[in-house]
Amino acid sequence: MTWWRDAVVYQIYPRSFRDSDCDGVGDLEGIRSELDYLVWLGVDTLWLSPIYPSPMKDFGYDVANYVDVERLFGSLEQFDGLIRDAHARGLRVLLDWVPNHTSSEHPWFSESRSSRSNPRRDWYVWRDAREAGSPPNNWVRAWSEGSAWTWDGATGQYYLHCFLDSQPDLNWANVDVRQTMHDTLRFWLDRGVDGFRMDVVHLLGKDLDADDPDDLKAMSHVPLNDVPVTHEYLREIRAVLEEYDNERVSVGEVYLIDPNRVAAYYGRGDELHLSFNFASLYTPWNAEAWRDLIATTEAAMNPVGAWPTWVMSNHDNVRVATRLGADDRRVRAAMTLLLTLRGTPFLYAGEELGLRDATVPPDRVVDPGGRDGCRSPLPWDVDALHGWPATPWLPFVDNASQFSVEAQRDDPDSMLHFTKTLLDLRHRDDTLRHGDIDGLVASDGVLRFIRHHAGRRVMVVVNFSDTDSAVAVAVEGRLLLSSAGGARAGSLLPAEAQVIEL
Ligand code: GLC
Ligand code: MG
Repeated sequence: MTWWRDAVVYQIYPRSFRDSDCDGVGDLEGIRSELDYLVWLGVDTLWLSPIYPSPMKDFGYDVANYVDVERLFGSLEQFDGLIRDAHARGLRVLLDWVPNHTSSEHPWFSESRSSRSNPRRDWYVWRDAREAGSPPNNWVRAWSEGSAWTWDGATGQYYLHCFLDSQPDLNWANVDVRQTMHDTLRFWLDRGVDGFRMDVVHLLGKDLDADDPDDLKAMSHVPLNDVPVTHEYLREIRAVLEEYDNERVSVGEVYLIDPNRVAAYYGRGDELHLSFNFASLYTPWNAEAWRDLIATTEAAMNPVGAWPTWVMSNHDNVRVATRLGADDRRVRAAMTLLLTLRGTPFLYAGEELGLRDATVPPDRVVDPGGRDGCRSPLPWDVDALHGWPATPWLPFVDNASQFSVEAQRDDPDSMLHFTKTLLDLRHRDDTLRHGDIDGLVASDGVLRFIRHHAGRRVMVVVNFSDTDSAVAVAVEGRLLLSSAGGARAGSLLPAEAQVIEL
C-alpha cells in the first residue's frame, strides 16, 4: 500500500493558520509551533498553500520566485526546520506548486515583456492582435467578464493570463520553460518535501486557435482544458518525482468537475498520483445526489486504477459548514463521509472545528475572487484576538471563541473531538482505509455503502433528511461510531451518520 493512499491530508492556508511574529499574517514558525496539535488531531500529511515570494495579488498564487520563501512567511532555514520537525513527528509535507502562471513581477516576465527579441520572450504566451485589434481569441479570465489577454503597448502584442493580468501564463510548449520548472520541483524535493499539490494543471496545454463556443468562464473552458499535450507534460513531471525515493506524490488541481474527465489525468499510473474530485463541492445535500456522485467517481476511477480523493472545503470555496446551513448535525455527517469514503481525504484547516465562513465587511474585502470568507484566521483560544498576537489580515468568524481550539479541546462533545475520533477510527481500521466499496444505495433520504477488506465489512449510513423523527435502518452490527453520540445501530436520528461493523 502506497503511503498517499493511506494519508489524510490537512490543507494549511499559511496566512490564516498561526502568526508567530506579530504582523497579523500566519507564517512558517506559526505552523511549526502547532505540529503537536496536528499530531494530536490525527492528520498525517500537510499541504501548505504557496509560501513563495509573491506580491500577493492572488495571495501567493502569483509566484515571483519558485525557489525561495516569502519573507512574510519566514526563511528557507525556517522551512528546513519545519520539514525536520514535521518528519520527526511522522508528518509529511506537500508544497503547492503553481506551474501555469507566474506573477507579472517574476524576473522571467520582466525579461519576456522587455522586447520581442528577448531570449525569454517565448517563455510566456504572446500573440498578435486579430484584425481590428481584438484579442487573439475570446477567452475570459477568471473572476470577471474581462478578456484573458492584455495588450502590451511597448511590444505591440497581447499576453495570455487565465487569471489576473498580474498572473501571465507560462508557455509550457517551450522546452526551456518545462526544464526550468522541473528544476524548481527538484529544489524542494532535495530539501525533503514529500510531494506537491499542483495548481490548475489541466490548463498547462493550450489550444489557442480554439475560440470558446459558449463564452464560458475560463475555469470550465473546454477548448482551454483537456488538451492532449497536457498529458505529455504530466508524464514528464511524474518522471521528475520518480527520480526520488519514498514516493514523492503529485496531487493535481484538475478543475474539470466531471470525474470521468478527471480520471484521465492519472494516466496509466504515469501522470498524477492523485487528483482532486471537486464535484463534491457542487453536490447538494441529498442522498440520491451523493449516491450518484460516489457511483460516478468509482466507475470513472476504479477501472483505470486511479485512487479517488474527497474534499469538502478549501481556500477557494465556501466552507462546508456554511454550505450546509451551519447545521452542526449535517456538518458531522459530512465529516463522516469525507473520512469513510474510498480515497484520500483532504481536510481544510478549520474544518475540524466546524468553522463557517466569516462575514467580511466591504472595507475588509481583499481577494479579487471574493474568497475571503473561507480564508478567515483560525481561532486558537477564547481571548479577544484568539491566539493571534496582532489583529489578523482578515476578520474572524462570528462567535470565534466558541469555535476555538481551546474551547473545543475542553469539550468532549465538540466537533474537534468528533473529528479526532473519526480520524483515530480511520487510522486503526484497514477496512476504512483500504477497503473496496459496494452496496451503494440511497432510499428515503438515507445513503448507505459498505467498505470491505479481507473478509471484514463496515457499513456507513448517512441520514440526509433532518425531519424530526428517527429513521429505522435494518442493520445488524456493532456500532463503531455515531455522529449523534449515544445513538444505536438500527435507528438513525435526523442528519445522523453511523459507522457499523457488520
Ligand atoms: C487555483 C488556486 C486558487 C488560485 C488559482 C490561480 O485554483 O486554488 O486559489 O487563485 O488557482 O492560481
Ligand atoms: Mg506573521
